[in-house]
Amino acid sequence: MKIAIMGAMPEEIAPILEKVGEYKTTKYAGNIYYEAKYNGVDLVIAYSKIGKVFSTLTATTMCEHFGAKKLLFSGVAGAISEKLKVGDLIVATKLAQHDLDITAFGHPFGYVPEGAVYVEADKELIDLSKEVAKEMGKSVQEGIIATGDQFVADEKRKNWIGEKFGADALEMEGASVAVVCDALDVPFFILRAISDAADMDASFSFDEFLETSAVESAEFIMKMVDKLVD
Ligand code: ADE
Repeated sequence: MKIAIMGAMPEEIAPILEKVGEYKTTKYAGNIYYEAKYNGVDLVIAYSKIGKVFSTLTATTMCEHFGAKKLLFSGVAGAISEKLKVGDLIVATKLAQHDLDITAFGHPFGYVPEGAVYVEADKELIDLSKEVAKEMGKSVQEGIIATGDQFVADEKRKNWIGEKFGADALEMEGASVAVVCDALDVPFFILRAISDAADMDASFSFDEFLETSAVESAEFIMKMVDKLVD
């Protein structure tokens, strides 16, 4: 079974590549895909570049071209919930696109016909993450993640997303990856470590904590891989 590990930015997959050591590099559709054998299991690792379009392309490529049968996403997010602080981990139970808007036709935010506002992440992988959290002695929160093609650095926008979607954190790729995996029947898991609070200081906080938070997330994801291999 091949497992995909995906991030959006180089910093999000660097700790994973470091951990796997040796890998084969393939250029495909404008991105680099790293294939590795890790404890006997085949991995395909890549960062997509930021946003819903690039992450859709990468998730689809990992499943359809590289044959990934599970997909784990590792990265950082802005916190909406006051309970989430920089460095904390959040596991997405379900994801929505906060910038999808055909409300002019009477539909709710995040909805288009034949779609759904929320896409649920794989329950077995979420259960596995609880075991991993216990073994690592880490507290990991579960919650709703909202995705959009915007870096949110505004309290009002953040609160609107929190209220409309019941979201605990926001980022720019999770829901598009979720749509792809759901459509292709590939179980997926989205993990994010908090880098900022999506407020007026968000860009400074993001720059300061991107690397350390990305490492937090990547370490947890690799423990998930260890468990999946067991
Ligand atoms: N990823 C990390 N922080 C973010 C923010 N504030 N907005 C969108 N994506 C993010």
